Amino acid sequence: MPVDVQSLAKRRGFIWQSAEIYGSMAGFYDYGAMGAMLKKKWENTWLKYFMGLDDNYYLIDPANIMPEAALKASGHVDSFTDPLVECTKCGHAVRADQLIEEVTGAAAEDLSPEQIDSKIVELNLSCQRCKGHFGSAKIFHMMFPLDIGTKGTDKAYLRPETAQGAYLNFKRHFEIMRRKLPLGLIVIGKAYRNEIAPRQGVYRMRELIQAELQIFMDPETFSDELDMKEMEGKEINVQLVDMRGKQDVQSMPCRYLIDQYKLPDFYVYHMLKIQEFYLDVIRVPKNKFRFYEKSEKERAFYNRVHFDIEIDLATLGGFKELAGLHYRGDYDLTKHQAGSKESMEVSLDGRRLIPHVLELSFGVDRNVWALLDLHLVDERTGVLKLAPSLAPYTFAVLPLMRKDELIPVAREIHTLLKNDFDVYYDQSGSIGKRYARMDEIGTPFCITVDFDGLEDNTVTIRDTDSSEQKRIPIDELERIARGLASGKLLFRDLK
Ligand code: GAP
Repeated sequence: MPVDVQSLAKRRGFIWQSAEIYGSMAGFYDYGAMGAMLKKKWENTWLKYFMGLDDNYYLIDPANIMPEAALKASGHVDSFTDPLVECTKCGHAVRADQLIEEVTGAAAEDLSPEQIDSKIVELNLSCQRCKGHFGSAKIFHMMFPLDIGTKGTDKAYLRPETAQGAYLNFKRHFEIMRRKLPLGLIVIGKAYRNEIAPRQGVYRMRELIQAELQIFMDPETFSDELDMKEMEGKEINVQLVDMRGKQDVQSMPCRYLIDQYKLPDFYVYHMLKIQEFYLDVIRVPKNKFRFYEKSEKERAFYNRVHFDIEIDLATLGGFKELAGLHYRGDYDLTKHQAGSKESMEVSLDGRRLIPHVLELSFGVDRNVWALLDLHLVDERTGVLKLAPSLAPYTFAVLPLMRKDELIPVAREIHTLLKNDFDVYYDQSGSIGKRYARMDEIGTPFCITVDFDGLEDNTVTIRDTDSSEQKRIPIDELERIARGLASGKLLFRDLK
């Protein structure tokens, strides 16, 4: 029977619905032993790459619970809503804009409740479950409210996006980090949204993880800080608004997007950086990657330019949003200045300004899922081919058999490597089954201790990609492991 991603994710310890033994709640997921490692690897890879874009970018870790006043100022208390319709017969709740979009194919995000009611009548829409009539559309609030303290008098919410913690911390970090722009604040952590219809697995969750970089910058000088030459001769995969329905993706020169399409050059520069992350680091095939332009109607009112980053995922039925690049202008800091009465202005070379924000926003769960979707290369055997930097375990150490002579040597090798690498140790079951298990969790290299090796101080290394094995001296193992793990040494070049 072919292995599908869903069953592999469960069976091999990656991810499944939370609180399974109590019947689960929609929209909540648990990462198991392999999933937590895979997520950590993706986060580390992402952090290294995006924090590396500038010396003045930092990781911070703000609280998950935010006071009502902050989220009132940001606009979430009033506007973080989705339109809801419920079936009058069975009570089934659906997101009204999605219901209409699925039928018409056109964006319905900005319809008022009255317009939704008329559309439902015009399109003759009924409940997909029982064919009952829908009641009137309502505005549904998506934040989780909390009453803090013994009397519950301090009103707060679970944060709906990690971004807000960075905005509240901007001024302090600007002072600590010696008053320089651009300043980048990164948050990797949970966000919470009471989604009306959590569905498609981790694609729409109620407790999700985001990895976001907020770049605070001066729009007049930001481009001078970037190496614009990097864009020369480079192209970016895009689907612009007017290509919809005609062409899924087109590769366009950075120069065209700046000169003719009039996108800010710093925006296109970051599109290129994001594309390089996905194609070169995560190894997404080029034809499966695109920037999807959001129209003026579709994008949040504070976004001046907004493209989603989409990947073509077989398990989710086509191109799906995994991240977004948002030019938010000075919206956020201006709102928090008004809400908190703290000045968000900075003084640079005699000029006073409220910095603008360029936001690189990634959904971690969707990206981790994409790794499983894209890299399950053999549905018959369930082989997962992950880059050494992303695999939950880079190496497995396996004694060929459970024999007294082999186990101490295998244990010694495990101890030798585990301080520097993520190494799995397994001595139970046939060697064939153990290799298959490592193939299924994407371990790129298996180190096997056998009887020949006891004679001449060698082990074999097996490469998951090719199933090929090579014999190497134990003295060389650390050096070789370092090369293979970093990608600087390729298995095929190993003598
Ligand atoms: N700070 C900007 C922001 O939060 P967003 O488009 O709402 O923008 C950013 O979310 C990313 O977070 C999305 O591209 C997606 O990958 C992820 N995301 C958003 N809602 C999600 C949900 N309900 N479940 C899983 N991931 C979600």
